[in-house]
Amino acid sequence: MLQIVLQTAELLKEAEQLIDQKIHPQTIIAGWRKAVDVARKALLDASLDNSANSEKFREDLLNIARTTLSSKILSQHKEHFAKLAVDAVVRLKGSGDLQAIQLIKKTGGTLEDSFLDDGFLLDKKPGVHQPKRVEKARILIANTPMDTDKIKVFGSHIKVDSMAKIAELELAEKEKMKEKVNKILKHNANVFINRQLIYNYPEQLFADAGVMAIEHADFDGIERLALVTGGEIVSTFDSPECVKLGKCDLIEQVMIGEDILLRFSGVPLGEACTIVIRGATQQIIDEADRSLHDALCVLAATVKESRIVYGGGCSETLMAVAVSKAAANTPGKEAVAMEAFARALLHLPIIIADNAGYDSAQLISELKAAHNSGNNTAGLDMEKGERGDMKLLGITESFVVKRQVLLSAAEAAEMILRVDNIIKAAPRRRVEDRGHC
Ligand SMILES: *[C@@H]1O[C@H](CO)[C@@H](O)[C@H](O)[C@H]1NC(C)=O
Repeated sequence: MLQIVLQTAELLKEAEQLIDQKIHPQTIIAGWRKAVDVARKALLDASLDNSANSEKFREDLLNIARTTLSSKILSQHKEHFAKLAVDAVVRLKGSGDLQAIQLIKKTGGTLEDSFLDDGFLLDKKPGVHQPKRVEKARILIANTPMDTDKIKVFGSHIKVDSMAKIAELELAEKEKMKEKVNKILKHNANVFINRQLIYNYPEQLFADAGVMAIEHADFDGIERLALVTGGEIVSTFDSPECVKLGKCDLIEQVMIGEDILLRFSGVPLGEACTIVIRGATQQIIDEADRSLHDALCVLAATVKESRIVYGGGCSETLMAVAVSKAAANTPGKEAVAMEAFARALLHLPIIIADNAGYDSAQLISELKAAHNSGNNTAGLDMEKGERGDMKLLGITESFVVKRQVLLSAAEAAEMILRVDNIIKAAPRRRVEDRGHC
C-alpha cells in the first residue's frame, strides 16, 4: 500500500536527522515503539463501531467506498461504484470471502451501465445441439483432456504407412473417447464443465445424452464455479459415487451488451455474486476493475472488523497530537524520537493539502490546534481548502487499514534502521494483523 511506503520513507527521513543529532538508533527505536503504542491507543479510542445498526453501518461502508474510490479515475462515478461494492460486500454476511465476488469485464456501454448480478456468470456457451437452459442443474466440474480423437494421431510419433492405418487408429481413439464420455455420463450430471477443450466427437456424444457441456472454462472460472456451486474439480471418472457435484437452481443464457453469457442462479453459496463492469474502452474497464478491487478489499476488511475512523488527515493528526502529548511527559532523548514520529505522522495530511494546492503549513497547524482542544473529528475539507468536520462530511476510512499503515510503516522503518546500524536488540514482537490487500 502506497501509504505504508510514504510513511516509512518519512520515518527514515526523521531518523536520519536524529542520528545527525547524535541520538543512538537504539534510543530512536525505543522512542518510536512508545509512540506506536500511544498512536495505536489514540486511534482505537477514536474509532467507532456502528455494526449493530445496519443502516448506519451501511452508511459507513458507503463512505469508506467513496473515500477509497475518490482518488481514482472513477471519481465521477464513485456513487455508482460505491453502491455496487457495498451491495456485493454486504451479501458476504461477514464472511469477508472476496472469492465469492466475481468481477467480469465487458467492453461497451458506459461505466454507469456496470451492474451487480446475484448469480455466477460464465463467459461461455454450451456446445452445439446441447440444452441452452438447465433447471436443477447437477454440475460435474472437470479438468481433463477431451481433445484426443483426431489431432493426436498426427501429432504423435506413430509411423503410419497407409490411410487405412490412420483410419484404424482414429477409430481406436474414438472408441476410447466414447468410453470416457460414458464414464462421465455415469455421474448423472446434466451439466459438464471442463477446463480443457472438448472436441467435436465428445461434444456430439454429450448432445445425444442431453447434457450441456462447456469447454475451456478458464482456471479462475473453474475454481470459483466449484466454490459457489459446492462441487469439486475432478480429473478421473472411475468412482462416480465419490464425486461431489455442483448444484444450482437454474442455468440460462443472458445477454450482456452484445455477448451471450451463462448465468448460474440459485447457487448454494448464497452470497456469491458477479459485478459486470462496462465501459467504453478496455483501458477504462481495467482501471475500474482495479479501483473496484481495492474498494472491495477495504470493505471486506471493514466487514470483518467493523470499526471506522475518520479520514482527511483527521486520524493522523489525532495520533500525532497524542504522541506529542506523551512525548512531553517522557524524559530524555526518547522524547525527541517520539516528537519525530509525530511529525512523520503529519506527513500524510500535509501531502493531502499540498496536492490540492493549499497552504499546508497553515492548515495543518489549525488542524493540530483543533485536535489539541479536544475536537477529534476535525480534518481537511479538500473541496473548500479549509478545516472541516469529517463526521459531518462522511469522510470515513477503515480502522484496521489505518492501524495496519501505522504498524507496518513503523515496523519497516525500524527494520531498515536496524539493518543499517546492525543493532543488537530484542526483535520487535510481531504485529498481530497483516492486511490481505
Ligand atoms: C471541529 O472542527 C471542525 C473543523 O474546524 C468544525 O467544523 C467542527 O464544528 C468542530 N467540532 C466541534 C465539536 O467543535
